[in-house]
Amino acid sequence: MRAAYVEQPSATDPAAAVVVGELDAPAGPDGWAQVDLYAGALNMHDVWMLRGVAQQPGVDRYVLGSDGAGRYDGTDVVIYPVLPATESGRTVGHATLLSDQGHGLLAEQAVVPRENLVAKPAHLSWAEAASLPTAWLTAYRMLFTKGDLRAGGSVLIQGAGGGVATAALLLARAAGANVLVTSRSAEKRDRARELGADLALEPGARVPDLVDVVVDTVGPATFEHSMMSTRAGGAIVTCGASTGFVVEVNLARLFAREISIHGSTTGTLEEFRALLGFVGKHQVRPVVDSVVDLDDVRRQVERMVAGDGFGKLCVQLR
Ligand SMILES: NC(=O)c1ccc[n+]([C@@H]2O[C@H](COP(=O)([O-])OP(=O)(O)OC[C@H]3O[C@@H](n4cnc5c(N)ncnc54)[C@H](OP(=O)(O)O)[C@@H]3O)[C@@H](O)[C@H]2O)c1
Repeated sequence: MRAAYVEQPSATDPAAAVVVGELDAPAGPDGWAQVDLYAGALNMHDVWMLRGVAQQPGVDRYVLGSDGAGRYDGTDVVIYPVLPATESGRTVGHATLLSDQGHGLLAEQAVVPRENLVAKPAHLSWAEAASLPTAWLTAYRMLFTKGDLRAGGSVLIQGAGGGVATAALLLARAAGANVLVTSRSAEKRDRARELGADLALEPGARVPDLVDVVVDTVGPATFEHSMMSTRAGGAIVTCGASTGFVVEVNLARLFAREISIHGSTTGTLEEFRALLGFVGKHQVRPVVDSVVDLDDVRRQVERMVAGDGFGKLCVQLR
């Protein structure tokens, strides 16, 4: 089968570390399913893998990709990206993505535990369905489990063009929340308004009313603004740090306003099923920036590193 993988990571040039070539068809233990994949999508996590972060002992070649949709036993499925599959009530902190353990999805085939397969929402294309697993699940947990966002509530989403950010925008809109976003790019702010953002601001701009929840995937470049924009008793939820891992926190503001800061990572299998149900019920369609052939995965990695995409960077696999 053909696959996109990494053997020699590069800390300085992750796109150059992408290899596309022929590999043996994957095999898995009893109870695992061999899935014919139709589309996959990239995440910042793939860039970390290409840079050599998140390597597991004993794995010397990593097929990239934690997002995939395909067909198993005549059924169209989307793949829950976490291993082991985590049910409600169990922390997801100890779990890793399929690709971390040598079961990446940017390939014509993959083997995954059968419980990781969930029926594909019928209204979605393959690329849209493949956009859901990592970024959309992460956004779902951030908004509704950690942020406790409700209809009529308000959310500020930093870095509107990102995969997690566009997911958060569409999920929050569908849930009936008031949505504010920031983006560095005027064009992306316009796109966010078209998707239903009530207000699209430049990074750092004052919000008219402090919000209930902030979704911050950007890190140091936006975190102070997230603190300034959260109402008393509100919450900031972070799942990542595209601009670095260390931020300064004004403790006076934190305790005086009783702001909560939550870390969040992907989501449970139960949340994944709930996400797919929500997407089906509200007929939400993920924003797909672009779809390329497997041979052009390197181009998608370059776009992700440059940060100039809007929505998910997808790959057609057959
Ligand atoms: N913990 C988890 O389970 C989990 C899951 C998914 C993702 N993540 C993490 O979440 C982060 C976002 O992931 P993603 O896949 O959504 O990435 P992405 O698609 O590349 O989006 C990142 C966004 O951050 C904004 N940004 C980048 N550099 C910036 C800067 N210097 N100043 C201001 N904004 C900047 C950009 O938005 P604008 O161009 O619109 O400003 C960009 O679109 C990553 O760190 C990733 O590792 C974690």
